[in-house]
Amino acid sequence: METPNLEWDKLPFGYVKADYNVRCTYKDGKWGDIVVSDSEYVPLHIAASCLHYGQESFEGLKAFRGADGKVRVFRMEENAKRFIRSAEGISMQPMPVEKFCEMVRMVVKLNERFIPPYESGASLYIRPLEIGISPKIGVSPAEEYMVIMLVTPVGPYFKNGFKPTKVCLSRDYDRVAPKGTGSIKIGGNYAASLNAGQKAHELGYSVMLYLDPKEKKYLDECGAANFYGVKGNTYVTPASETILPSITNKSLRQLARDMGMTVEERHIPYEELTEFEEVGTCGTAAVCTAIGLIDDIDEGRKFEYGMEDAGPVTTKLYHKLRGIQYGTEPDTHGWCEVIEFDK
Ligand code: PLP
Ligand code: COI
Repeated sequence: METPNLEWDKLPFGYVKADYNVRCTYKDGKWGDIVVSDSEYVPLHIAASCLHYGQESFEGLKAFRGADGKVRVFRMEENAKRFIRSAEGISMQPMPVEKFCEMVRMVVKLNERFIPPYESGASLYIRPLEIGISPKIGVSPAEEYMVIMLVTPVGPYFKNGFKPTKVCLSRDYDRVAPKGTGSIKIGGNYAASLNAGQKAHELGYSVMLYLDPKEKKYLDECGAANFYGVKGNTYVTPASETILPSITNKSLRQLARDMGMTVEERHIPYEELTEFEEVGTCGTAAVCTAIGLIDDIDEGRKFEYGMEDAGPVTTKLYHKLRGIQYGTEPDTHGWCEVIEFDK
């Protein structure tokens, strides 16, 4: 098995061609066999519902090569369940959990040589997606669907890695509507966030921190990741129907409880930003990253938490989570599946 010529420890969060992807089609009322492909392209009908009416959902999860050489996939059943909710949220055919997990195992095994070495701190990002492929000109759901899973080796999502990041906040942008699709993972939500993301970048910030789209009173989503704050011994994170229920955040809440912290899931009023000792953003890509500065660009108000180093709680949570993923900490909650490679 030839090792790819990649600088593993310098990988950004981006696309690198791996060897194979896997695909599965829903047709005539059933999911077919999983097909292996070495093509980076998908043949699509020019009227496919994904192209015209955005029938597309996706997921993001990671495989890690551990200190012990074993390869672990983190909480894939959770992604499988969310993939079902996303499909149902836009009238697509949901893929059963077991089929999803089978595809994940297969695509990881097929691309073994692209799983970054432990020392690099990088990982293999797995990107499942589902699209409606039937031709549709009237606005209605497709009859046929395709699930594709591709992989790409990735490094840190934010350019400064684990160092605190700077974000901006503005009331001029909504990622989703109040009773819309914020709690599912569909491409349309990300298209709707691109202008806000561009604005944040132009101003020198990594992402846009959104307030809730209904009242603009509460903290909501932080770019493509969840938000949390730390106050004394309490981990606080938004309870909001417009944010994506993050699997990373769910894991951090458990780890915070394990560390003896109190966990609160509730609305977080904007003014409470003055009360946190630490704030951060978390997700599969972002892991958990401290926010050093929040700039409210509408009101010219800055909330500072320190750009030098992440605070003690974020640091502890980060190391605990990464330790479980890389096999250096006991996986007491049974979150990782070790992938068995045929020798
Ligand atoms: N929120 C949004 C909008 C996201 O795109 C993501 C990334 O998946 C998250 C939150 C974090 O979710 P997870 O931890 O399951 O990756
Ligand atoms: C993830 O964290 O997996 C995401 O999907 C975030 C972003 C890259 C879309």
